[in-house]
Amino acid sequence: MTPKRIILDCDPGHDDAVAIMLALGSPAIELLGISTVGGNQTLEKVTRNAQSVLVMCGREDVPVYPGASHPLVHQVEVAPQIHGESGLDGVELPEPTVPVRDKHGVDFIIDTLMSEPAGTVTLVATGPLTNVALAVRKEPRIVERAQQVVVMGGAYGQGNWTASAEFNIWVDPEAAKIVFAQEWDTVMVGLDLTHQALVTAAEEEKAREIGSPLANFFIGLMNYFRKSYADNQGFTDPPVHDPCTVAYLIDPTVVETVAAPVDVETQGALTMGRTVVDMRQPAPAGCRSRVATKLDRERFWGLVLDAIRTLSEAQK
Ligand code: BDR
Ligand code: CA
Repeated sequence: MTPKRIILDCDPGHDDAVAIMLALGSPAIELLGISTVGGNQTLEKVTRNAQSVLVMCGREDVPVYPGASHPLVHQVEVAPQIHGESGLDGVELPEPTVPVRDKHGVDFIIDTLMSEPAGTVTLVATGPLTNVALAVRKEPRIVERAQQVVVMGGAYGQGNWTASAEFNIWVDPEAAKIVFAQEWDTVMVGLDLTHQALVTAAEEEKAREIGSPLANFFIGLMNYFRKSYADNQGFTDPPVHDPCTVAYLIDPTVVETVAAPVDVETQGALTMGRTVVDMRQPAPAGCRSRVATKLDRERFWGLVLDAIRTLSEAQK
């Protein structure tokens, strides 16, 4: 099996960290590099977090490219109430000994998509879509070169940051509008799906059995996430959103999707940042966006725990 080659554009973030672990620990994925974007915390903090997660994974070879610090139009908004002051509270972060590369994240996305054979690289975005939108504007030809774009963001049901909007889309709605308006294959992995990816005591127990520094790091992150989500969002077990994108690429049967047009509200006084998804079926002919609906949570957590196990073994 040839691994799927991906760029991960992210804002780590507890669940982004798990997405990195899943991408690195799965033989079905080749992670070409990480671009970071201001979101859960400032660009500086989330970049440092990406570096530290790579150190924990024993993968200091993966290149990290800092991207946009500010949304296209809106003011910066970070999420300390969910992710803490560091963006990865709840664990001790190792020194970020992975060097950041001397290239902007937007240029990394463009250069990779333009230099690799067309249709061979998938863009996975688990933060605000600022970098992806800037890349499209700077080099529109990336649209026909990306294999697909898999986004954690939005919802066809209830939002989480407002009643209407999910956090990643809320932070940069104009960027999201640009991304979903392009003629490329997109998959929106929104809250409707990710709220099925709850981490429970059972998964933490399985991680404990692995017994490695990385597994303990994962447990520390999940415990912090549990408390944040209990205090702020009324969840008993927290939803681990971002790795659902990677799980979809590893095995599309883990995440059911349906074709549906997606647009983003950038004007509404009450609905700013809402992903407006036309779920009426059948979708219009030629619709290139799909929306995630149903998660096989057992298999999802099986993939995540296998990845943590694989990365842990490799570090022994
Ligand atoms: C999304 O927002 C962030 O807090 C998470 O990392 C995830 O990408 C969920 O709304
Ligand atoms: Ca994220």
